Amino acid sequence: MAGGQPISMKNLKELRAFTKKHKIRIIHDMTRVAENAYFIQQKEKGYEKKSIKEIVKEINSYTDGATMSAKKDALVNIGGFLAVNEWDVFEEARNMVVVYEGLHTYGGLAGRDMEAMAIGITESVSADHIRARVGQVIYLGTKMMDYNIPIVKPIGGHGIFVDAKKFLPHISQENFPAQTLAAELYLDAGVRTMERGVVSAGRKANGENYYPKLELVRFTIPRRVYTQAHMDVIAESAAHVYDSRKKIKGLKMVYEPKYLRFFQARFEQL
Ligand SMILES: Cc1ncc(COP(=O)(O)O)c(C=O)c1O
Repeated sequence: MAGGQPISMKNLKELRAFTKKHKIRIIHDMTRVAENAYFIQQKEKGYEKKSIKEIVKEINSYTDGATMSAKKDALVNIGGFLAVNEWDVFEEARNMVVVYEGLHTYGGLAGRDMEAMAIGITESVSADHIRARVGQVIYLGTKMMDYNIPIVKPIGGHGIFVDAKKFLPHISQENFPAQTLAAELYLDAGVRTMERGVVSAGRKANGENYYPKLELVRFTIPRRVYTQAHMDVIAESAAHVYDSRKKIKGLKMVYEPKYLRFFQARFEQL
């Protein structure tokens, strides 16, 4: 659920009613819950005066458990958790920890990392923090729009998605337009983005590539790392690459691993 996209409380309540009727649990991926709560506060009627903390609590009240990759909204370098409301489910999950990490008392996360996470969660729901965090993303997106760069609208809470099919219309999907754009941005100014197109989509069971409708490049912004000046450099670099887009040629894949090719494949310029 959610998967990084803003949800509405109305939608969640409807989902809760549906899953209750069919006796299905909701396990919430709450990795970006503070950002989602911010959008609910900004956009959903009746939530304007509620705090981020209250909205996060309300979201969680409609679920049976949650997973959290804490290096996102919880503001830490590493770690995460699974939280559930039912004791039996908790015991089952705790037994699985033995298989993956050793007994739950051995580690996984060190005490100091858990302490940092607790502080991170508290700070993540602060109004100033979340406004500045999402504001920085919107600043970058607005600047890119000013340079006429084709981005996906509306701008979300954690990054900007550039439409590589519109940016590089002369490069066919066989030559990986989004991957090409990601490589060009890196060459131009060391800006590291992520391909979300044909490379990420992978192959079908019969070995053919999936050709998704969207070829996007994700500019994901870490929290509390960059200044507004860094955002300027990123937008200017994207504009620089945009200006020379007609000269850009596609890529060919020269190494493709069996799994996770979007992280590990290698390419050469055509
Ligand atoms: C909503 C959401 N859940 C989970 C993950 C992945 O977390 P991890 O990198 O810890 O596997 C991401 C990564 O961007 C995410 O956006």
